[in-house]
Amino acid sequence: MAGDLLRFTTAGSVDDGKSTLIGRLLLDCRAILEDQMAAIERASRSRGDPYLDLALLTDGLRAEREQGITIDVAYRYFATPRRKFIIADTPGHIQYTRNMITGASTADLAVVLIDARKGVVTQSKRHGFIASLLGIPHIVVAVNKMDLVEYRQEVFEAIVAEYRAFASKLAVPDLTFIPISALHGDNVVHPSQAMPWYDGPTLLHHLERVHVGAGRNLVDFRFPVQMTIRNHPDFRGYAGQIASGTIMPGEEIVVLPSGQTSRVQEIITYGGSLAEAAAGDSVVLRLADELDVGRGDMIVRRRNLPLIADRLECTLCWMSEEPLRLAAPYIVRHTTRQVSARIVGLDYRIDVDTLHRELAETLHLNEIGRVTLETSQVLCCDPYALNRATGGFILIDVATNNTVAAGMIRRAAQNGVVNIQPPRLRSSDVAWEEATITRAAREARNGHLAAVLWFTGLSGSGKSTIARLLERRLFPLGVQTFRLDGDNVRHGLNGDLGFSPADRQENIRRVAEVAKLAFEHGAIVLCTFISPFRRDREFARSLIPAGRFIEIYVKCDVATCEARDPKGLYARARRGEIAEFTGISSPYEEPQTAELITDTQTQSAEACVEEILALLRSRGILR
Ligand code: ADX
Repeated sequence: MAGDLLRFTTAGSVDDGKSTLIGRLLLDCRAILEDQMAAIERASRSRGDPYLDLALLTDGLRAEREQGITIDVAYRYFATPRRKFIIADTPGHIQYTRNMITGASTADLAVVLIDARKGVVTQSKRHGFIASLLGIPHIVVAVNKMDLVEYRQEVFEAIVAEYRAFASKLAVPDLTFIPISALHGDNVVHPSQAMPWYDGPTLLHHLERVHVGAGRNLVDFRFPVQMTIRNHPDFRGYAGQIASGTIMPGEEIVVLPSGQTSRVQEIITYGGSLAEAAAGDSVVLRLADELDVGRGDMIVRRRNLPLIADRLECTLCWMSEEPLRLAAPYIVRHTTRQVSARIVGLDYRIDVDTLHRELAETLHLNEIGRVTLETSQVLCCDPYALNRATGGFILIDVATNNTVAAGMIRRAAQNGVVNIQPPRLRSSDVAWEEATITRAAREARNGHLAAVLWFTGLSGSGKSTIARLLERRLFPLGVQTFRLDGDNVRHGLNGDLGFSPADRQENIRRVAEVAKLAFEHGAIVLCTFISPFRRDREFARSLIPAGRFIEIYVKCDVATCEARDPKGLYARARRGEIAEFTGISSPYEEPQTAELITDTQTQSAEACVEEILALLRSRGILR
């Protein structure tokens, strides 16, 4: 049972006695093997140490683990009759923030060590701050080396008062102070004789009784898919570890971000089928329907959706010697999903001592700031405060592949929410007729790949003009094209729709479905729609395989489009004769993830067509 296990982490500056404390805990809990003990005694004696150097034990173990590999965190296990413990032990060298974060992200409790002689230093505050950012529900401040201040109560009380004042500004649900001497063992496992004024628990007593599970989300079912398992033709399942919540066979689910729905048919583990599975379980889910699901997708309950967003407000702990580069490409690793991303805004940096916000242009090693993250594809996530498993991510440098930051999601940024589309509709009692001539066969005959070119931009920006010209260039090359145009489909197929956001959404939904059909027939589909809403364009994108949906932003400002006004519509919109006119009385959300931005304000339609042809060649769509 999870309640029997406590995961904790220790944080302290160099020399605060972290290794000694862990050694002391293991020793006094009799978790040390006799041969290790003998080795430590020998080593301590040979150095003329009056006491056992317990740090030798911890560091010795660590050195063993570290040989040949760089390891940020060593996990140590021990048990008492009451509980099992996992200590995430992080070496206390300069990259402390990074190590602490790596070790602490699943911790129930953090021990922050303070040297009684030095008192509260910036480092102690930083550790508490990070622990609170990481949502660790319990913090123990162990005031160590009490023996070196004659076990004086005033010293302890002064540290408690100062740290409490600091922590009152943090979200720390449970804060406990314990005066200890790791070297002599006072109040670690055994109560101290030297501090009769202290009547609280020993560290071990506290660790054994603190409530675990407070930081875990048992409500929201989130299943990041690790891989699809298909070991014979009739078996398809999705493997992964449940990040939070619980699930039972029969429950309705939705796969994100595609929005496909189904029902859980079976939950499989090594031991067989389960009647229920919960956070932490590694399982294979079988669904009732054949869907298109892969690594990086997330399966959730149909009526309990996470945030689906591509702009997020986050707290970022910078962990690299190289400072943050705004707007530069990074990689975000979030659950099993990996997407490219940029930090598009740094709102402020946080002064760890005062917790004040300060203006900053970048973040340096160990600095913490509030940023806006923009991802190339949506993330399905939760605010970190609600769900540590789906609210955290790491940022990776594209060039070096190093982890440069840890992030905690706070909320979707303005304009960042990508609404989940209505699940793809299906009439009852219909089955998909599989093509006997596959897309691949059609592509082979055509001599080019199928693709959807999605032109978006204001009315009058030049979408249709460019698409027509492009089609004229492709035709003599023998390319199969298929053109879908906003004005045209609104005659007939979509003649029942107007220009409200809901009608535009339906407009795009239908044409995206038509584009998909033509795509499956091997065509290069040219779609020219204002498609002013990002979520609608994302929907269209979600229907087409990665790399084959090419969003082309035909860029031109309203003033220029209005000056051109090829259909006289801007003039009429200005006179109030057309409601909800894009650019005038209805918004246009600029693409942030377009494959190509082509500017018709500064260049001719022919030049734009050349850009598109070059892109199609470089992507291998055209030979
Ligand atoms: S979309 O917003 O739903 O993508 P779509 O591209 O199909 O629009 O249709 C846009 C065309 O409809 C414009 O080129 C214009 O000729 C015409 N139109 C009529 N009313 C409006 C309006 N209120 N807003 C935008 N375009 C309109």
